[in-house]
Formats: sequence, structure tokens, C-alpha cells
Amino acid sequence: MSSSLCVLGLGYIGLPTASIFATKGRQVLGVDVVPSVVETINSGRIHIQEPDLDVLVRAAVQSGYLKAALKPAAADTFIIAVPTPFSVTASGARIPDLKYVEAAARSVAPVVGAGNLIILESTSPVGTTEKIKVWIDDELSKLGRKVDGLLYAHCPERILPGQMLKELVSNDRICGGLTPEASEKSKALYEIFCTAQIFLTDARTAELAKLTENAFRDVNIAFANELSLICDRLDINVWELIRLANRHPRVKILSPGPGVGGHCIAVDPWFIIDAAPAEARLMRTAREVNDSKPHYVIAQVRAAAAQQKNPVIACLGLAFKANVDDLRESPSLEIAEHLAAEGFKLLAVEPNIQSLPARLAGKAELVSLDEAVSRASIILVLVDHRGFGSLTLAQLAGKALVDTRGLVK
Ligand SMILES: NC(=O)c1ccc[n+]([C@@H]2O[C@H](COP(=O)([O-])OP(=O)(O)OC[C@H]3O[C@@H](n4cnc5c(N)ncnc54)[C@H](O)[C@@H]3O)[C@@H](O)[C@H]2O)c1
Repeated sequence: MSSSLCVLGLGYIGLPTASIFATKGRQVLGVDVVPSVVETINSGRIHIQEPDLDVLVRAAVQSGYLKAALKPAAADTFIIAVPTPFSVTASGARIPDLKYVEAAARSVAPVVGAGNLIILESTSPVGTTEKIKVWIDDELSKLGRKVDGLLYAHCPERILPGQMLKELVSNDRICGGLTPEASEKSKALYEIFCTAQIFLTDARTAELAKLTENAFRDVNIAFANELSLICDRLDINVWELIRLANRHPRVKILSPGPGVGGHCIAVDPWFIIDAAPAEARLMRTAREVNDSKPHYVIAQVRAAAAQQKNPVIACLGLAFKANVDDLRESPSLEIAEHLAAEGFKLLAVEPNIQSLPARLAGKAELVSLDEAVSRASIILVLVDHRGFGSLTLAQLAGKALVDTRGLVK
């Protein structure tokens, strides 16, 4: 079985993956294009926040099995775990941006050897694994190299930030090869640390399966968000409505919120919509519903502020979801930024960060929950962080409340 690996991209996915293989006694070279990331990891430290990852990386580096570098080197298996964002065209369409995947694929061509396995872990549009083969073949021919028997597979990652090390081991996985041999070899590789079931398929099905999982979540959240708008119009408490409807044995409505954030659920459905625009009508509408929710929340705050003389708004939470420090694509941050741009006096409570992100710096004050509650005249609950749940309606008497998470009882 493959004994050495080269993992391209040492972020939230690549770093835990590289480290876990190393702690299982596999020689791993982790590659990143950012020099500070490579230096940090080689010194046994980490540059991202994830529980227990520091311990794993330190053990992997100290054992000598994990090293980081700026360029790939020969290995039996190459794993690509680089970003896959979308870009927005002049007409406003969101299309997949595969420049990082292409650069990573091309960068391995000088060092791949006969029979090597090349795995794409990045969440990718259908057909990307086939493109990786084309890019590597193209690069090999430019280099005048002939390498036989390269195997390609897509093995998407499903781990949840905050629980990554546990889920890496215990989540079921899908291995989709361009050939059955590539699927089989990928399965054997992940069996080194994965204790759950590993299912084999082809690369295109694996690519669409990962996108489908996130689109499913997006559509279901959009249903809850749409319900929250309908309930506001009909003057019905959406939280009570959902609680009651969920007593039906086959109904499980998710919770509404200020919108959908993060770099997965808010991004990946666009890869399906771009590939099948005429068919993906429900997914497009779901994206639109979820993307419009922050604007609805802003309008609610504006309406509350219009009733007050010198409104002070406390934004409770800036992260894209509860109990993480991740502000990427966060609807809460988007809402706070809009309110600041409209000139409102803003207090921000985000217990998971030490200072405000550049987008809000100088436009809001980062304060404690107690200070925000005592100083603000409008309480805007954006994230259901631990600690916010202790707030009571009685405590907020006399203040306006916009509670996007149904937290305050
Ligand atoms: N983070 C998650 O929770 C999660 C979950 C499932 C799937 N994914 C998917 O995994 C992929 C990676 O996500 P992430 O969160 O780890 O991203 P990240 O931004 O945390 O890390 C990606 C790393 O790749 C590096 N990189 C960029 N181009 C490179 C190249 N050519 N060669 C080597 N390194 C390069 C970047 O410098 C960065 O450090 C994405 O497709 C994402 O959608 C992420």
C-alpha cells in the first residue's frame, strides 16, 4: 500500500489530513504556497483554530513523519485540498473558480511517478477530477515526461469545523475514481485512519454527491428562512410554529437565521446551478432566499431604530455559526457592516475573536455581552453562541429586540 504522501494545501482540510496520516506512520510532505504557513507547521505549531489540532500537528512534526514545504516532491499519493471559491461574472453569475486546483495539479507534474494516485479532496464541480488528469497530462507533455498508470479519484471531505479530528476518523466517506482501480486504492488509503464505511463510486458521482449534501442543507435552511418571513407577515411566532410542526413524526424543519454563511453551504450549490441552470431551479431560489435574509434583518433593525431618538445597536455574534471564530462569508458580519455603513452606533459582541475584523474596525466597538446589553437600545441577536442563551426578555425590558435565532425567552 502507498506509503508516502504529498498533501497540497495545509488549511482546515489539508492540515488535519496530512497530520493524521503522519501519526499513522506515513511519510507526509505538506505543501502550501504561503511561506508563513510552511514555517509555522515545521516548527510544530498551527495557523488555524481547531480543537486538539495543535497536539496532532506537534506529534506529527516531532515524529519526523510530517514536514512542510513550498513545493511538492515525489510521493506515492498526492492529495489536493486547496480552496475552490466561486467568482462573479460581469453579468452577476457565480461560476466555479478552479485556479487553485489547476495550479496544484500542474505543480505535481514534475514529480509524479508511474502508478501514483492523485486524489482531489477539494469540493469541486462535476468533471474537475477529469480536468486534473488533462492538466497533469498537459504539463507532463510540456516537460517531455511520460509517466504510466497514474490513477485519479475524488474523495470529498465532510468534516465539521470544531469537530474535525473526531469526524475525520468517524465519518463515512466516498471514493470516486476515474477507474475502479483508483477507487479501490483510495479506499485502502483512507482505511489507514478512517474507522467508518467507505463507499466506492465514479469521480463524477462523488463530485455531485458532495455538492448535493451542501445544497440539501441550503434548501432546507431556505425553507426555514422563508417560513420566518411568512410568519412575520402573518404575525405568528415562527419558533412556536416550527416546534409544533416538528411534532409530526416525519417533519424536521431546521431553524431560521440571519442568512447562510461559511465557505461551503453558501458556495457549493452554485457549482450545481452553474452546471445545470435550467434544472437547478429550487437550488437557485434557495440561494436567493438565504442571500436575501440579511437584507430583511437590516430592514427590521432600521424600522426599530426609526422609533428611537439615539439608537445604539448591539450585534450579538459576528461568526457564521455558533461557537466558532470563523467570519468567512458570515451573514452576521455582513449585517453589522451594512448597519455601520448606514451610520448607526454599533456595539459588537463576539466572544471568539480578540479584535474586530478590518471590515468593521473603527466602525464598531467590540464589547462584552454585559456591556452591550446595558448600553444598547436595540439588541440584535445574530448567532446562538454559548453564553448568549442566558439572556431573558425581562433583562431586555424597554429595549427593542430583533432575535434572528429565537434565543431570548
Ligand atoms: N473547511 C471546511 O470545513 C471544509 C469542509 C469540507 C470541504 N472543504 C473543502 O476543502 C477545500 C479546502 O478548504 P479549506 O477550508 O481547507 O481551505 P483553506 O483556505 O483553509 O486552506 C487551503 C490552503 O491551500 C493553500 N493553497 C492554495 N493554492 C495552493 C497550491 N497551488 N498548492 C498548495 N497549497 C495551496 C492555501 O494557501 C491554504 O493554506 C475546499 O474545496 C473546501 O470547500 C472544506
